[in-house]
Amino acid sequence: MNSEKILAQDLTQWQLPGMELHRFMDEMRERAPIVPILFMGTPSWLITRYDALEHGFKDTVGLPPHRVYQFGIAPLIGENFQSMEGERHRLYRKLATPTFRPRVVEKIDSTMLEDVANELIDTFIDQPQVDMVKVFTERYPYLVIARLLGIPRDEEEQFSRWVIGLLNFNSEPDRAYQCRDELWAYLDPVIEDRRANPRDDVISQLIHDEVNGVRMDEALLKSHIGIMFSAGSSTTHDSIGNLLYALLSPGDNWDRMWHSTAQRDQAIEELLRWEPAVSFLPRMTRDDQSTHFEGVELAPNSFVFMGIAAANHDPAVYTDPHAFNIDRGECQMMTFGHGPRTCPGMHLARKELRVTLDILLERLPQLKLVDVGASAPRGTIFRSPEKILCTL
Ligand code: HEM
Repeated sequence: MNSEKILAQDLTQWQLPGMELHRFMDEMRERAPIVPILFMGTPSWLITRYDALEHGFKDTVGLPPHRVYQFGIAPLIGENFQSMEGERHRLYRKLATPTFRPRVVEKIDSTMLEDVANELIDTFIDQPQVDMVKVFTERYPYLVIARLLGIPRDEEEQFSRWVIGLLNFNSEPDRAYQCRDELWAYLDPVIEDRRANPRDDVISQLIHDEVNGVRMDEALLKSHIGIMFSAGSSTTHDSIGNLLYALLSPGDNWDRMWHSTAQRDQAIEELLRWEPAVSFLPRMTRDDQSTHFEGVELAPNSFVFMGIAAANHDPAVYTDPHAFNIDRGECQMMTFGHGPRTCPGMHLARKELRVTLDILLERLPQLKLVDVGASAPRGTIFRSPEKILCTL
């Protein structure tokens, strides 16, 4: 698509499958480090270069990260550390995320992750052809988080339905409020029980952890259970889909993975750089004054999109950036953000991707894409394949 047309079109309507997004970003990056775009009919901005994005993530004064989260899911689930600023953000981030520290994630039982993957595969392994999005990628991360929280198995499906209802807040607000009320009512006795009888699960940890003499109250406990799903499920689901597309596209990458376990982590790192699940991350400028950024004056209350996918393909940082090259070696990337808001779930996400890849290779070694073009990642803010039709 021609860039003039795109700039006149709303960001929410762009699909830009596969390389279309990255070629478009090349054009934008060549123009300037920050370019005007349209978002929901409103003139907005997109940051296009790696060094400008690094600056954008660090500029918490001109581009305060909490503002945009106050409009997202917070009106539905209540205040949470994403919608807080400064010291409060730091305090509640500490209280909410001990489970995601690298050492704790190392200890998370791989067997639990493997069990979830195996249980899902058991449901479709006898079929000749499946859509891997429907049968696997969109279910796996929800089940993992439900198990980390300690939700009983026979309640997981109902729990996932409530959470998906919350995540669809923008498109179906009435249903989202109903799901929230039902979920909160479900959580009341669970929280009471874990308060009296702590277990080895995330809900017990959220209740009992204390930082600087502060503990989460009932409302914050619930909103933090809510954001664990909103932040950690669709991003991981999208990344598993992108990984399947990258490895199953024509070439020998799937076979190489099969023969070399040592290269699997490298492939996952390259995937995270090459096709990040959050391709453009929204921020909003301050409401009380303009922001000066990379030589441009941004009006108060403007949306600014952090071009993560654009930075990850910046030729000033990467050689041959559009190639999915599992031999690239370790490289920096913006996939998990940067600065004080850097994703605390990245270690868990990497572990989920690795376990998934191991199990899929072991149980479905002949997996083949039916239609490569139709499986290409698409979308701008969140990006992944809509369908991954495969023969087994
Ligand atoms: C590959 C998968 C993932 C990707 C691409 C991803 C991406 C990101 C990005 C870009 C941010 C920065 C947001 C900002 O600057 O405003 C972020 C923050 C966050 N992520 Fe992830 N994430 C992933 C997986 C997870 C998982 C598995 C969890 C937890 C279960 C999680 C929990 C969070 C939370 C709670 C924040 C907010 C941090 C803060 O505001 O201080 N993420 N993630």
